[in-house]
Amino acid sequence: MKPQDIIAAKSSSLWIFGYGSLVWKPDFKYKRSKVGFIRGYKRRFWHGDNFHRGSDELPARVVTLIPDDDASTWGVAFEVSGAQVEAALEYLNVREAVRGGYNSEMVMFHPEDNSPSVPALLYIATTDNPLYMGPATPAEIGARIAVCEGRTGHNLEYLLRLAAFMRTSCPHVEDHHLYAVESAALAVVTYLLEAQ
Ligand code: SIN
Repeated sequence: MKPQDIIAAKSSSLWIFGYGSLVWKPDFKYKRSKVGFIRGYKRRFWHGDNFHRGSDELPARVVTLIPDDDASTWGVAFEVSGAQVEAALEYLNVREAVRGGYNSEMVMFHPEDNSPSVPALLYIATTDNPLYMGPATPAEIGARIAVCEGRTGHNLEYLLRLAAFMRTSCPHVEDHHLYAVESAALAVVTYLLEAQ
């Protein structure tokens, strides 16, 4: 379901699930938020970004969701209601779809507090997207993240803030990919600083 369809359906309330920069920087008004997870997807730094955290010359590595029946991905869902719905969707359409290359989808979100699961909108970049970069080793991904910068900020900030969110808000979740990429990026940054 596309955001415009949701508006057309005159939803008075909508949940929006974030699993990347939205977890620490939603930048839209919302009523409340909940930490929780979605099933059937794994989070990977396999999407390219030539606007927010990288450039055409050196695209950044940012997260997308890859279908995997055995996986789940933790993040934050934000509930927007009333006039917030349209404002959030308009803002996110530019940030995620126009600039980020993400498509929108509806998934079931399962809150950590065991309150009932709710359908939530999320932004996902598919493998046929021109910006898609695909799998690479944590060392390769970390090396790219260590040096990329875009109009919103450094790629390293994006990675470190996401890892910090997971450690603080989801300490029980072993996100091997995220933490391996974080270690690799920090090793490259340390090396570059020491070489100066
Ligand atoms: C995004 O939401 O995907 C990009 C925003 C950012 O990198 O801060």
